[in-house]
Amino acid sequence: MQIVAQGPRIYLREMSPSDWKAVNVYASDPKVIELQGWGPHTENDSKDWVALAIREASVKPRKMFYFGICLNADDQLIGGASVQRMTDPINYGTAEIGLYLRSDQWRQGYGREAIKLLIPHIFENTNIHRLVGRCREANQASARLLESVGFRKEGHFIRDVLIRGKLTNSYSFALLKEEYNTSATEHISLDRLQSLV
Ligand SMILES: CC(C)(COP(=O)(O)OP(=O)(O)OC[C@H]1O[C@@H](n2cnc3c(N)ncnc32)[C@H](O)[C@@H]1OP(=O)(O)O)[C@@H](O)C(=O)NCCC(=O)NCCS
Repeated sequence: MQIVAQGPRIYLREMSPSDWKAVNVYASDPKVIELQGWGPHTENDSKDWVALAIREASVKPRKMFYFGICLNADDQLIGGASVQRMTDPINYGTAEIGLYLRSDQWRQGYGREAIKLLIPHIFENTNIHRLVGRCREANQASARLLESVGFRKEGHFIRDVLIRGKLTNSYSFALLKEEYNTSATEHISLDRLQSLV
C-alpha cells in the first residue's frame, strides 16, 4: 500500500480492496453522514466505493483522489480524505475536498493533521491550484477545520443542498496554492500548471 503523506500521528495512503470494511464503519455511521448528501452506506456501497477509488487512482490525469487516513500506532484505517477535480473546463485546476473520520476518533486533532497532509500533497504533486471545501451550515466541525488551516469562506448558499429530503443551507470555502504557500513569490504560469498532472 502506497503511503502518500506521513505525519506525526497519522498517514495518508492509497486504498486497497480489503479497506471496504474499515470504510464501512464510518460510511454507515449516522453521525458521520448526518450532514452529507450521501449515505448511509451498505456493505456493498462501501465495496463499490473502494473499488471506484482504486480504479480512479490509475486514471491519468487523475481526477479523483481518495486516501485512507491511518493511525501510525497500529495502521488502523480511521477515515478517508477525498479530492475530486471539477471537470468543467471553466473550473480549470479547481478540486473539492472532503474528510470523513470514524466518530470515535473525532476531536483529537486527526482531522487537522489529515488536511495538513492532504493540502501540500495535492498542491505539490498536481496542477490543482484551488481547493474548495463545502459543508452544511450546521457542520461546525467542518467549517472550523477548514478555517483553522487557512481556507477563506467564499459563499453562503441558501437552501442549495438536499439532505435526506430537506433543503439545507451551506458554506463554501476555498484555499489557493499561493495562499497556502504564502512565502512563495513565483508566478505560477499556465504552462507550468499544465505540465503537472
Ligand atoms: C469534520 C471532521 C473530519 C473533523 O475531524 P476532527 O478530527 O474531529 O477535527 P479536529 O479534532 O482536528 O479539530 C479541528 C477543529 O475543528 C473543531 N471542531 C471539531 N469538531 C467540532 C465540533 N463538533 N464542533 C465545533 N468545532 C469542532 C476543533 O475544535 C478544532 O478547532 P480549533 O482549532 O479551534 O480547536 C469530523 O468531525 C468528521 O469526520 N465529521 C463527519 C464528516 C464530515 O462532516 N466531514 C466534512 C465534510 S467536508
